[in-house]
Amino acid sequence: MEDLRQRAATLDASDPLAGRRQRFSIPDGLVYLDGNSLGVLPAHVPARVADAVTRGWGQQLIRGWNTEGWIDLPRRIGVRIAPLIGAAAGSVLCADSTSINLAKLLQAALAMVPERQVVLSDTGNFPTDLYVAQGQLAQGGRLVTVAPEDVRAAMTPEVGVLMLTQVDYRTGRLHDMHDLTARARELGIVTIWDLAHSAGALPVDLSGAGADFAVGCGYKYLNGGPGAPAFLYARPDLQDRVGSRLTGWMGHAAPFAFDPDYRPAEGIDRFRVGTPPILSMVALDAALDVFDGVDMQAVRDRSISLGELFIACIDRFAGRFGLELASPRDAARRGSQVSWHCPDGYAVMQALIARGVIGDFREPDLIRFGFAPLYLSHSEVVEAAAILQEILTGRAWDQPRFHARAKVT
Ligand SMILES: Cc1ncc(COP(=O)(O)O)c(C=O)c1O
Repeated sequence: MEDLRQRAATLDASDPLAGRRQRFSIPDGLVYLDGNSLGVLPAHVPARVADAVTRGWGQQLIRGWNTEGWIDLPRRIGVRIAPLIGAAAGSVLCADSTSINLAKLLQAALAMVPERQVVLSDTGNFPTDLYVAQGQLAQGGRLVTVAPEDVRAAMTPEVGVLMLTQVDYRTGRLHDMHDLTARARELGIVTIWDLAHSAGALPVDLSGAGADFAVGCGYKYLNGGPGAPAFLYARPDLQDRVGSRLTGWMGHAAPFAFDPDYRPAEGIDRFRVGTPPILSMVALDAALDVFDGVDMQAVRDRSISLGELFIACIDRFAGRFGLELASPRDAARRGSQVSWHCPDGYAVMQALIARGVIGDFREPDLIRFGFAPLYLSHSEVVEAAAILQEILTGRAWDQPRFHARAKVT
């Protein structure tokens, strides 16, 4: 691997994003390849949250809703996320969880196509997306899932809503958002994109693609912290024509009029439901500072470079240990993560974590590694591969403590 170490050092030396790492608080000795599940803590976030607690909550108390601008935080965070996903300002809202946002948007989408209550998705979609669709369609309508590569062909005039996750959570396979959305528009199909593994990892162009709706997570590549609030997008010209059935007072046109009858707010605010979790939103808002001035194409370039290098490292020994690449080999068809089918993958991943290389395991047999381009270096990626090789060579994973399943994998 010496040649790959050299290559990593050269790549790191010429990297335009290398300086961003200083803005994160990364534990010493850890190679973190799980920013696709929970992003690293940006170094300035604790002080901002502490200030919101002690000064905001502690001193301002209820006045903080006005004096600290808490009431508008969902929209303000949306304005900051918008450029990362190619959305117009005012078309993104920070709210709730990804699952709940998806439920709200699916209701809105299904209401747009009353005669076509069929939702098309793919079998690789994240389970919560499929569960949400199953729940929304429980009173009627149908969820159809096909293999990811068959989605385009399965788009027919009976389908009302196309609901896809752009980057597959297991394999990293990237759907062609422009192509599928364009085809959907030709057929009058409403589109909902889940950007959980896209936002902050690669350039997304919702406006350019003509997507109708989108959702995504705040805690992955956006580094908002465990359980950070999610976001949703609605195409600007649709916002005043649609709404969800999860109608709450914060989505009312005049919440403090306390009108007993619901009247939707104008624009994206109608997708608000209840009181926003301000401390979590303050953390996410602060975390987004690390994207200030960042060119998402540079993020993508680095993500590809990290992924390609890691694959090149693992290729050196994969065959000997029965590792089989589960992700597309073509970087253009991959998001910012790579996974392998790996015999005894769960135990192998636990042994790797014990050695300070954090990735994760996904059923049935996948070891998964995410490359958060703002804080990961090429040298770390080579070190992680070298440690994996050692673990496999010495069978260090074959110990009872590494086989015991934790609740979260
Ligand atoms: C594609 C996708 N959608 C949604 C979620 C999670 O949604 P929620 O924020 O509601 O837990 C995940 C979590 O990993 C995901 O990978």
